[in-house]
Amino acid sequence: MAASAPISPTIYFGAFVHSTSLIELELSDKGAIGVDSNGVIAFVERDVENVEDVKGKYDEFKEARVVEVKDGFFFPGFIDTHTHAPQHPNTGLFGKTTLLSWLQTYTFPMESSFSDMQKAERIYSNFVSRTLSHGTTTCAYYATIHVPATNLLADICLARGQRALVGRVCMDSDLSPETYRDASPESAIADSKESLSYIRSIDPTGTIVQPIITPRFAPSCTAPVLASLGHLARETDAHIQTHISENVGEIALVAQLFPSSTSYTDVYDTAGLLTSKTILAHAVHLAKEEVDTIKARGAKISHCPASNTAITSGCCPVRKYLNAGLTIGLGTDVSGGFSPSILEECRQAIWVSRFLAMQGADSAKLSTEEVLYLATRGGAAVVGMESKVGAFEVGMEWDAQMIVLGNVDERGSRDGAFEGLVDVFGWEDLGERVQKWVYSGDDRNTKMVWVRGRLVHSRA
Ligand code: GUN
Ligand code: FE
Repeated sequence: MAASAPISPTIYFGAFVHSTSLIELELSDKGAIGVDSNGVIAFVERDVENVEDVKGKYDEFKEARVVEVKDGFFFPGFIDTHTHAPQHPNTGLFGKTTLLSWLQTYTFPMESSFSDMQKAERIYSNFVSRTLSHGTTTCAYYATIHVPATNLLADICLARGQRALVGRVCMDSDLSPETYRDASPESAIADSKESLSYIRSIDPTGTIVQPIITPRFAPSCTAPVLASLGHLARETDAHIQTHISENVGEIALVAQLFPSSTSYTDVYDTAGLLTSKTILAHAVHLAKEEVDTIKARGAKISHCPASNTAITSGCCPVRKYLNAGLTIGLGTDVSGGFSPSILEECRQAIWVSRFLAMQGADSAKLSTEEVLYLATRGGAAVVGMESKVGAFEVGMEWDAQMIVLGNVDERGSRDGAFEGLVDVFGWEDLGERVQKWVYSGDDRNTKMVWVRGRLVHSRA
């Protein structure tokens, strides 16, 4: 399998870019990053004129392979903290629906068809390829209620070498049609346990794939099932993912369904579902007390701006949450979101923050540096991998992408020869190249992708 194949020590030579803090990118024009046979970063050198000089400095790297980037830079792999693999066929289809009508019209019918394992194989393989080709090296996936298809998604991620949290969706309430819900609270918990055990059995160290307990959202689950999942999470020390406070109609429904709870957040807190390993998607409309509770429990936020705009859920106040000290990453939320690309979410996060700025305080604006942080180190913290991935530091693992831009001078008269929209003319410094990539780059600029030093995607 891709992620455990032996590798030879490799030096990644050329420009590299990564976040050193929320507001700061390190832009290194002449870097050399040594990755050892385990895929771990052994050294990071700057201002390297000749890669041979670096080889001489490190015993293990005397005979190292060199991978050089030209007309571009190395960048950490993206972390997608929230997406739905079975909704991939619906990408771009949402019309004028909002969350609750969207679920009934598009989502439940599509997900229910994943009892068909041939369909699951086709669509999950295709979607994992898509996310990898967009530079996503770690992804938190929702599957469906079906155990076999959920387990298959984990198998595919492991085989392709993409780090993944894979969750069987738990939903036993009557919100969804009878044909697409857990048959009973008992079967809901039994099926979630079965999938959790399977995923732990195929990757016992959890290096590449891990299970994640996945109550879809409060309206999909009865109170006993929420409490049992909270108990299961404690018992198994597993990650948890769910949706929260996405849409005003949904929030009103939660108040009606859980009348004794003081808030949406309180529903999850009462069930023991708010832990430091919990990923809460959306969090568009949280009250101050809810932010305080989430912060106190150490739960994390997945910001999904494309989805929030597409199904008109609202503009998530990211600046407010950052100021409150919450940990935030980005999520594509396919197919509420219309793209498998975290680069697209970077742009969308910037746009949403600017709409907030135009309606209120200028301080709402997120910078290019900030969204790239959320896409990498922020996301790594959301999935509990902040010491392993998200940046280029000694001791971290080489989860990275090679970004190549179109050099107009080199292309000469071969107009349009370079695939992709980002043209550079030779005068741009590395910071300007990064900005051009953020605003008009796409998967055509992602030429190679590695997880733990293993190549998991390349394009000609
Ligand atoms: N809330 C409950 N289920 C879903 C889902 O599939 N997508 C989104 N965006 N929100 C949800
Ligand atoms: Fe979602």
